[in-house]
Amino acid sequence: MSKNRFLLVLLAGCLFLFAGFTPTGKKQPEETGESGNRLLLGFAQIGSESSWRIGNTRSVQEAAEQHGIQLMMSDANQKQENEIRAIRQFIAYQVDVIAFVPIVEEGWENVLYEAKNAGIPVILSDRQISEKIDENLYTTYVGADFYVEGRRAGEFLLRKAEESGKETLRIVELLGTPGSTPALQREKGFHDVIAGDSRFEVIESVSGDFLRSKGKESMEKLLEKWGDGIDVLYSHNDGMTLGAIDAIEKAGLQPGRDIIIITVDGEQAAFDLVKEGKINCVVECTPMLGDLIMELTEKLAAGEEVPRVIHPEETMFTEYDDLSGLPARGY
Ligand code: AHR
Repeated sequence: MSKNRFLLVLLAGCLFLFAGFTPTGKKQPEETGESGNRLLLGFAQIGSESSWRIGNTRSVQEAAEQHGIQLMMSDANQKQENEIRAIRQFIAYQVDVIAFVPIVEEGWENVLYEAKNAGIPVILSDRQISEKIDENLYTTYVGADFYVEGRRAGEFLLRKAEESGKETLRIVELLGTPGSTPALQREKGFHDVIAGDSRFEVIESVSGDFLRSKGKESMEKLLEKWGDGIDVLYSHNDGMTLGAIDAIEKAGLQPGRDIIIITVDGEQAAFDLVKEGKINCVVECTPMLGDLIMELTEKLAAGEEVPRVIHPEETMFTEYDDLSGLPARGY
């Protein structure tokens, strides 16, 4: 590591601490007595809106430590401008690689041009950016196929509809953060599967912003409006689902029986509710992306080619499955 770069990293550590950033990893290179050539990854996280997200952050931190990669992590507190500011700081500190979770799809052109001009490869983690943005501005995407997740939710509903024999199923949908890839794609995948089938009527779609509190609040309003006329809840994440289940029980209805509940993520709490019969289907979305991100970081820093898209393996867990032997989820 050059003297200038070393001083920058040192300065970065101090400033990031001051500005709410968290440099992690066991020790700074100068403390380890190593040759001082540890890779430096700037990771911009969007916040801690759900247990899923907290699991995602932990996965990145643990993997960085295991791979011996020095991590500068920022928490944008759900604000895109904070993320952009963090990425600019990563560029100023000349990190080796930048990874970030685009909170929404639009609005990244300028900062990505800046990273490109600085010659720093960018990994999109968990969420994607708009197809309208020049795809050469980032190197790779690692995260779920949210469209497939939405389709899985729809396919489960087809099976339930067969079983129920009902002529009409009235669906309410709790959407994630507006303009984010998981909200857009989970909606599209689900609607594509049920489209044209006259048994299904989506009576209302409202945003719960991936938050448990908003899931509860939105479901309370939906129940006030539609009473017991709701047959299905399709919710874009477990956090909102847990809030909605509180509201459903408060209204004297039985989740999983009076209302079919389909959710996405696979947090431990959701698994437990499948076992209790309160959730009918969990579509898995794994937050465990840390190892993949670190492997990509190492390859990019070494100038190696990496795949354009990496989707981790995911599945779904339903009331028809035996979940008793599954290991604890850890988030
Ligand atoms: O981007 C992934 C989504 O973001 C997860 O489904 C959700 O829980 C999180 O907040």
